[in-house]
Amino acid sequence: MPALHKICTLADLEPGLCRQFNYTDASGTLIEALLVKTAGTVRAYQNACPHWEVELNWQPHEFLNPERTHISCAIHGALFRLEDGLCVFGPCVRQQLKPVPVRVVDGAIYLSIP
Ligand code: FES
Repeated sequence: MPALHKICTLADLEPGLCRQFNYTDASGTLIEALLVKTAGTVRAYQNACPHWEVELNWQPHEFLNPERTHISCAIHGALFRLEDGLCVFGPCVRQQLKPVPVRVVDGAIYLSIP
């Protein structure tokens, strides 16, 4: 059964905004990640653009394009769908952000890793 680690509450994650967080994976590697609320649910991805494997954002918690319809890479402007992290515009089209498993339990968002 995966361990649950609380990241924040649903109320902390306003629609159209992201939340940056870190965790350590099973191998001891520090992973940077982001949470985003979309279509009534929450998704999380590693904060690494598949183009150059660099951080997506240049300001804390700022990951979305101005229209707040996609996650955007600040380096070359790649756009990723909120619901599955698929790149639909930019130099890494058809590549995908790496998903991070999260669960919502009683209004709180938890990292769910083995
Ligand atoms: S590094 Fe993200 S689009 Fe190039």
